[in-house]
Formats: sequence, structure tokens, C-alpha cells
Amino acid sequence: MKIVLLGAPGAGKGTHAQRLKVDFQIPHISTGDIFRANIKAGTALGVKAKGYIDRGELVPDELVIDLVKDRLAQKDCEKGFILDGFPRTIHQAEAMKQFVSVDAVINFILKDEVIIKRVSGRRVCSCGETYNTALLNGATTCAKCGNELYQRADDKEETIKNRLQVYYKETSPLIEYYKNNGLLLDLDCNDRSIDEVYSDLNAMVKKL
Ligand code: AP5
Ligand code: MG
Repeated sequence: MKIVLLGAPGAGKGTHAQRLKVDFQIPHISTGDIFRANIKAGTALGVKAKGYIDRGELVPDELVIDLVKDRLAQKDCEKGFILDGFPRTIHQAEAMKQFVSVDAVINFILKDEVIIKRVSGRRVCSCGETYNTALLNGATTCAKCGNELYQRADDKEETIKNRLQVYYKETSPLIEYYKNNGLLLDLDCNDRSIDEVYSDLNAMVKKL
């Protein structure tokens, strides 16, 4: 099954993709994670992407589209995949149509004030797990691998606000776009725990 997770920064795409990946045995492809790995490794792509990410802007389409096309052509994507953070512009969606058809686009719905709170409290591990200070009970290491948790460089309050503005301007038009294509499924994430949201998401994906 080939699915896209669409939603504002901090809506919970990565958290829930990690669970889908285990339950449905398909790869979780996060363009944000790919960029961050490239920045850490100091690759040419990482050097080009860093400034945009640090400012909370989108990386230019031409740096993202071929990257995703190449990733989806790999063998582990034959059975399906979870795309997290792509497409993020109408141009990216149009480009994607040329190399893959997806089964559904799941739209994570969450209020802005909750988003800002969640992103400010987010802590991540190098193994890919995501946590929140609100649920960590003071723990500073990953429950899965024991590594030290850290805060993402773009999770500062002023950057989060910019990312939200960019989301409304550049990415939210995709909601209408995929509604018109008959692919959009809404997932209400307001006032609901990770387990509650995941239970709905899992049921949605099982029906595809
Ligand atoms: P990316 O890494 O994709 O960031 P993002 O879209 O801003 O999304 P986040 O990762 O911040 O949020 P999320 O929805 O994954 O939420 P999470 O699960 O962590 O992209 C980073 C940057 O890369 C972009 O700004 C851009 O520059 C660039 N980029 C990437 N893709 C691009 C593209 N296609 N084109 C151009 N540029 C691109 O959850 C957030 C927090 O909430 C966590 O702490 C979690 O524990 C908590 N949480 C989640 N659900 C719940 C719940 N139900 N209850 C309580 N807490 C919850
Ligand atoms: Mg994420």
C-alpha cells in the first residue's frame, strides 16, 4: 500500500509513520529525516538544504523531487511505502504523479496552538524515535535504544511559526488538490492521544 501522510509540522506524521512501518512492514520515507541525515554527514545535498531548513523554509523542489523518485525506485518500496513530508507543494504532487500513483493521502488535522506546544516539547533520537517532554516523565534517553535524546535545530519557537506559515501557503493547497482527486482521508488528531489517533489510522490503512 502506497500512502502519503500530509499535515502541518508537528501534526504527528513521523510518530505514527513509525508505527505503521512496523505493523504493515513497509518503509517509512521522511524527506525531513533524509535531509537531516545528509546535513549530519556533511554531503553536498546537506550543505545545500541546511540554510532552508534552519530558517523553516521549504527546500527547493528540484532538490527534493529526484531524491524521492530515486528512493521509491528501490526494491523495499515494491510492496508499498509511507511518504512523510512529500509532496509539500502542488508542483511536487504533479511531479510525483509522473513516477508513482498512491492509494491514499491521509490529512492530519490539528489546531495551531497544540502544534506549537508539541513541537516545542519534541525530543528525538538518532534511531528515529520521537518523544515529547509532556510524556517523558523527565527521561532523557531513548526507551528503544538508550541513546541520548536531543531537540531538532528547527524546533525553536520562531522557526516553528515560520514553518506553520509556509505550511499554510505552500502545502495546505494540497488538501483541496487531493480531495478533488478522491484520495484524501481526514484524520482528526485534536484532543486525542497517540494510541487513539493510531487506532483510527491503522483502521483506515487496513481498509485500503
Ligand atoms: P520535516 O522533518 O518533514 O518536518 P515537518 O513537516 O515540519 O514535520 P515534523 O517532523 O516537525 O512533524 P511531524 O508531523 O512528523 O510530528 P511528530 O510525529 O514529530 O521537514 C523538516 C524540513 O525539511 C522542512 O521544514 C523543510 O525545510 C524540509 N523539507 C522536508 N520535506 C520537504 C519537501 N518535500 N519539500 C521541501 N522541503 C522539505 O510529532 C510532533 C510532537 O508531537 C512529538 O513530540 C510527538 O511525540 C508529539 N505527538 C504526536 N502525536 C501526539 C498525540 N496524539 N498526543 C500527544 N503528543 C503527540
Ligand atoms: Mg516528522
